[in-house]
Amino acid sequence: MQTKDIAVIPGDGIGPEITQAVLRVVDAAAAKAKADINWIFVSAGLSALEEGDELIPERTMTEISRCKVALKGPCTTPVGEGFTSVNVRLRKAFNLYAAVRPVRSLPGVETRYKDVDIVIIRENTEGLYSGVENEITPGVVMSMKVASEVACQRISSWAFKFANRRERKKVTMLHKANIMKLTDGLFLRCADEVHKNDYPNLGFESVIIDAGCMKLVQDPTQFDVLLLENLYGDVISDLCAGLVGGLGVVPGANYGDNEAVFEAVHGSAPDIAGQNLANPLALLMSAVMMLNYLAETEEESSFGRCSKLIKTAYDAALIAGETTKDLGGSLGTAEFADVLITRMAAL
Ligand code: NAI
Repeated sequence: MQTKDIAVIPGDGIGPEITQAVLRVVDAAAAKAKADINWIFVSAGLSALEEGDELIPERTMTEISRCKVALKGPCTTPVGEGFTSVNVRLRKAFNLYAAVRPVRSLPGVETRYKDVDIVIIRENTEGLYSGVENEITPGVVMSMKVASEVACQRISSWAFKFANRRERKKVTMLHKANIMKLTDGLFLRCADEVHKNDYPNLGFESVIIDAGCMKLVQDPTQFDVLLLENLYGDVISDLCAGLVGGLGVVPGANYGDNEAVFEAVHGSAPDIAGQNLANPLALLMSAVMMLNYLAETEEESSFGRCSKLIKTAYDAALIAGETTKDLGGSLGTAEFADVLITRMAAL
């Protein structure tokens, strides 16, 4: 049995409580599937600052780099206080250029739509997240949107390769190239070229993002893989979460060429922090994505067995209505984890 070190950042707000719940579930699955996982706890965000450390301590960077894989709880970025977001820093430091967010209808979760199955692929390093903001003159500020051919080409290739490997039918790019002719125009041209040159077998369409939003809320089942620049990807991820049950059920992964960081789409939810109310499912689903990634990259089947056990348990719990309050149930964060552990024991 191979031992895998995985860096864990519990994060801020609801981060520590959902992380604890998720690790309990993964540990129970690992024990049953005979997968050997060694959690390496590191800190980042407000909690790191409160411990007298930097926003992202050096040890955190070293451990992510050594483990290559990290599971991350949400981190708070105070608004208007000159803080660089932990997420933006991590994504840039490890060049985690591809954010992947699967948005799927879940069994037992009642929503307006059935059969939603969209994968959002977000360019994670450029756009308005370049963090280049200037005061030109008092009362006039600007923010720079950056797009480079290298990054647009890289994420386009990544998205089509992903779509092809997963036997998806179509990639839709949501953009505003009619207004941002240079930046979004470059991204659109790169996606178009990758499609024509390398993946003509797949469908490709480009939709102006405002119309795309309307189409998404009218009939999300018409979309398959969505390709977006950084800010659009951020906004559309939350919109799509709303189509399948909310932020408690949408996981995410940030991939670079060497490291991968798995985290939920949602933030640190300070409004419900410390009350045992948060749904740990989105982070748990991110952990399942991580286990599947390990099963592929480490070629260790125990990680795959582990992910199947967890998925089987949460699908059954959702169908039985054993959920947290955001999904209409009555379970607390910890009790939801207990239910999954009991269900896995019986599998
Ligand atoms: P948020 O995602 O934390 O919360 C939005 C709403 O969804 C809130 O009403 C919250 O209670 C609810 N919610 C979120 N996650 C939930 C869960 N697991 N279970 C049940 N309800 C849940 O977004 P908000 O309030 O805009 O941001 C709060 C903080 O989180 C900010 O500091 C922001 O910068 C940070 N953030 C961090 C992210 C990360 O670390 N990946 C991502 C997004 C935001």
